[in-house]
Amino acid sequence: MYRRIVVLTGAGISAESGIKTFRDQHGLWEEHHIEDVATPEGYARDIDFVERFYNTRLEQLNGGDVAPNAAHVALAKLEAEFDGELLVITQNVDDLHERAGSLRLLHMHGELAKGRCPQSLQTFVLREPFGVDNCCTCCIPAKRLRPHIVWFGEMPFGMDRIHDALDHCDLFIAIGTSGTVYPAAGFVDAANHHGAQTVEVNLVEADRHSQFQYHLTGKAGEIVPQLVEQILAGKVIGSDKPD
Ligand code: OAD
Repeated sequence: MYRRIVVLTGAGISAESGIKTFRDQHGLWEEHHIEDVATPEGYARDIDFVERFYNTRLEQLNGGDVAPNAAHVALAKLEAEFDGELLVITQNVDDLHERAGSLRLLHMHGELAKGRCPQSLQTFVLREPFGVDNCCTCCIPAKRLRPHIVWFGEMPFGMDRIHDALDHCDLFIAIGTSGTVYPAAGFVDAANHHGAQTVEVNLVEADRHSQFQYHLTGKAGEIVPQLVEQILAGKVIGSDKPD
């Protein structure tokens, strides 16, 4: 049935792995001001403070208590077994999709485990936490690495590839995202516009303004594995009949 699938994931897919979302109760943006830790201006104002924020999150990610959940694993299975094309676009900066085995993956908001040289823009896998001595090896004198994170006011990564995938997909699935941050929030419109079926998986019910054609309410870790089995069995989402 489906030939080209695009999946967009948000913080909700990692919630069952123990990583905080941004806008749910007790979410990251309840405890921190976006303008302090997620803008270039906040970084310029207080580099040490911003670095501590990302170092703490990276420490948690690598601390041993965090692992991919059934939703990440199911998407990796879809990639391995699906006959057509699949692209997973994630707004998440954790590496749980990679740990589950996803390869065709685009981190549109960057990656927690990388730093970037502010001069050459070269990225480096972090070997130590951010700090005054964690510098690039591409410049003389070496530059202090900044988090490889897309902050508010900055352009997400991979937009050309994303638009190309959205223009040609026949199924678009958004998992665990509040749809409040653009451009990701607009992907459903692009997919609808190009005739794709659009499906949302979220813990909470869709509101009446939802642009998605189907909404599946519940935990990603429970719904995504079922959805993947349905797709791999050649079934149309929203129908129990084989295609
Ligand atoms: P949000 O925190 O805005 O939304 C998380 C969504 O996941 C909510 O809609 C929840 O209802 C849903 N959710 C929570 N637990 C779930 C579960 N177990 N299963 C399914 N759904 C669940 O996170 P994002 O939409 O990812 O950007 O936020 C988008 C961007 O805003 C982030 O990438 C980040 C943030 O500011 C930057 O930092 C640039």
